[in-house]
Amino acid sequence: MSPAPSATAAAGGKVILLGEHAVVYGSPALALGLDRGATASVRLAQRTGLSLGGQHYAIDAGKLSSAEPAVALAFRALLGALGAPSVMAEASLQIPAGAGLGASAALGVALARAVVELTGGSPDVPLGEAVSRAAMVWENVFHGNASGIDTAAAEQGGCLWFTRSEGARPLAVGGAMQVSVALVEPGASTLRMVEAVAERRRADRRGVDLVIDSIADLARRARQAISLGDFTELGRLMTQNHQLLVELGVSTPGLDQACGWAIQAGALGAKLTGAGGGGCVIALVDDRTRPVVVEAWARRGLTCLEARCAATQP
Ligand code: MEV
Repeated sequence: MSPAPSATAAAGGKVILLGEHAVVYGSPALALGLDRGATASVRLAQRTGLSLGGQHYAIDAGKLSSAEPAVALAFRALLGALGAPSVMAEASLQIPAGAGLGASAALGVALARAVVELTGGSPDVPLGEAVSRAAMVWENVFHGNASGIDTAAAEQGGCLWFTRSEGARPLAVGGAMQVSVALVEPGASTLRMVEAVAERRRADRRGVDLVIDSIADLARRARQAISLGDFTELGRLMTQNHQLLVELGVSTPGLDQACGWAIQAGALGAKLTGAGGGGCVIALVDDRTRPVVVEAWARRGLTCLEARCAATQP
């Protein structure tokens, strides 16, 4: 018997350089793709299921129960969005989950790409659009009101400007950009952190909207700084963005401390990245400061990753 047709795909994680949370309310944000993320392989099968992180999720086509784990609900929804037949999928992560690095979006994009590659997609919908839509359906199971920046970064990689209304656009980058990432502590759920900001906004609409507007202003200035290769200015803006995230209530003492260590070690700027409540911080570095910052974090037991972007033409 010949083996069932199969397909494999990958997608990257991301860091948010500026603009998380504000982006949920329509403000712009900037993201930088990570080389690592998720891989997925799928094959046609009699029954649908997903293996991920040592767990197997059996998905019964007929039964939909609210007790189903979120991963199973999300995979069911992703397959439904793609009109896919029964498939058996295996997925794995090369970045930590729940740390603000876009792991769930990378998984959603990798799975959607693999399914589309296997089935050929639908003749009415361009393949890229089918992947985007299915990955968003997956992501919304975890995040409720996801802006789409994580799935856009997982799909496109590189340095991106993102708004909810216009989606992602590649950014002109005026010089090689280097970002060091430290995994500080376990992260909180994005859904919970986005809801915490919404609750704060319900209690103090004017105050929270002022913070959101200030973050939007920093993001616009950061776009300009990136296009000019002015990383001193970009670093300053990132550090200011961290202070505004503190005001929004999404930082933690551990994240603040890790930012402080990076700045003391010479980073051009540092901030939490992603939803906050734990997870990762990022520091803007150069060839000279990168080893010092990484050493300062490593000395305190923090695991580090790197994200880079080469200079591009506008
Ligand atoms: C999560 O990486 C970024 C948030 O702004 C949520 C979102 O945009 O979907 C916190």
